[in-house]
Parts: sequence; C-alpha cells; structure tokens
Amino acid sequence: SRHLLGIKDITSDDIQLIFETADNFKEVLNRPIKKVPSLRDITIANIFFENSTRTKLSFELAEKRLSADVVNFSSSNSSVKKGETLIDTVNNILSMKVDMVVMRHSSPGAPHFLSRNIKANIVNAGDGTHEHPTQALLDAFSIREKLGDVAGKKVAIIGDILHSRVALSNIFCLQKLGAEVMVCGPVTLLPKHIDSLGVIVEHDVQCALAWCDVANILRIQLERQQIKYFPSLREYSLYYGVNKKMLDTLDKEIVIMHPGPINRGVELNSDVADSEHSIILHQVENGVAIRMAVLYLLAGVR
Ligand code: CP
Repeated sequence: SRHLLGIKDITSDDIQLIFETADNFKEVLNRPIKKVPSLRDITIANIFFENSTRTKLSFELAEKRLSADVVNFSSSNSSVKKGETLIDTVNNILSMKVDMVVMRHSSPGAPHFLSRNIKANIVNAGDGTHEHPTQALLDAFSIREKLGDVAGKKVAIIGDILHSRVALSNIFCLQKLGAEVMVCGPVTLLPKHIDSLGVIVEHDVQCALAWCDVANILRIQLERQQIKYFPSLREYSLYYGVNKKMLDTLDKEIVIMHPGPINRGVELNSDVADSEHSIILHQVENGVAIRMAVLYLLAGVR
C-alpha cells in the first residue's frame, strides 16, 4: 500500500519487513554519523491536529535522519483557527509539492478520508480512539528486542482500553505476530465489542500481572471522555495503579511498558516506571528506527 493507516490493514509479513528494516536503521542510529541519504528528494509534512511530544519529535527526527525535507504544522497556531477545513488545509500544504503526510487527528478515520482525496503517501500518527500504527510497531519491536520474539508471549494491556488507539493497534499487531493478548481494566473502560477482538478479558490487575510476560500500561484518556466515566482517577489508581509491591509478589520478572505520557501515581508508580523492569525509554528510542523504516518503505512505493 502507499499508506500506513492502521495495523488492521497490514500483514505479519509487512510487520516483519518493517522490523528488519528498522534493525538496519537502529544500527545506523548508533553510529557517530546517524544520517543516510535515502529520502533526499522527498518532502514530508507533519500535520498535527492534536498535541504530541514523542510521536511528533520521533517522526521529525526519523525524517531528518533519512535526509528528507521536513515541514511541521500544528493546528493550534494555524489558519484552522480561522475556520479552514481539513481538506483545504492539506491541499494547500500539498500544493507546495509535499510528497508524504504524517497526520495526527482527533477524529477516527481522518487519515483514511484524506487518503481517498490526495495523492501523497499518508502515515497515520494517531486518529482519535481508532489506531496508532507506528506506536504498536515500536511496542512490538521493543518486546522482540527484549524477549527475542513476540510469538508465544503473553501481553497484558492494562488501563483505559475504551478510549485508546494504542490498545487497538497493539491488539492487532501482537495477534498478527502470534502473541496472546489480555486486556485488563474496569468494565466501564472496556469497549462493548471487546469480545469480537479475540482477547482475554480480566478485571483484576494483580491476576493480569501474574498471567503476563509483558504489561503495557495505559493512561486514562480524560480528554476523550464524552461523559464522566467511573472510576475517578483516585479510584482508578487505588484499584489499578501498578506499583513495586505488586511486582514483588510475583514469582517471575515481567517487562513493563507504557506509550507515554505517564500520569505518575495514577496508572503507574515511579518505583516501577523508573525501575529495571521498565523498557519505556527503549520504546521511545526504537520509535525513531521504526518510523525511519515505515517512511523508507512507503517512499519505495511512490
Ligand atoms: N505515545 C505517544 O503517542 O505520545 P505523544 O502523544 O506524546 O506523541
């Protein structure tokens, strides 16, 4: 495909190809000279209609390491504030001869809509509660790096599954790679269609930790809650917050992941986030190599 819109649309072979390409780029990123000329004639626009720290910087660094020309757009200080539409905004940016668009938007399906209306390659950097494909790729790549393989591993995704695009993309990606996936959270924060996703559902976080090899811990997405969901943050942290005491009761070592941003003391305590169990900053590091791989492979089908 010319686009990366979601993990649902790609195969396990596609994911393996992205990982092998990312292995090469990770090696490049560890050299004194981190830059390669691969995308020298390509111009990429990073179009963000929602806040971001990791994804935005990681894509921009990936593009610069590949020698692409890069322009950045944030809706919050743009003419969107004067009423310009998504399609007009993007078409204006594209008329400046942009080849690829990396887009984050609060509406599920926004990059899919765009892909039917513009000629450039599109990479989804997160569309509302729907998908965040490069996050799932970097997460699975980090599990593969830490544990040798993803196939056969037990991964528990703990938190606000209902509002999380990271959860949905992770479920698709991990299942395609042969992992067993559990979701764990209060019933009010699980989607109604959860039974159709082929995951194990657990409501007790200690049981989820005892079951898994890897716990991927998600924050409560207050900004996406249309109505006020039960539980409150205080109640959530009381029943679901992961701390060192909980890990100490296990008879094994588990890997702790979090896509960021962490709400310390809510879903995850600092005594775990900053411990030797955590690969959180390795996930961020791997994000650059994964995004280089995705951009490089998509540029090849231009
Ligand atoms: N993981 C992630 O998407 O973080 P940002 O929202 O900061 O990009």
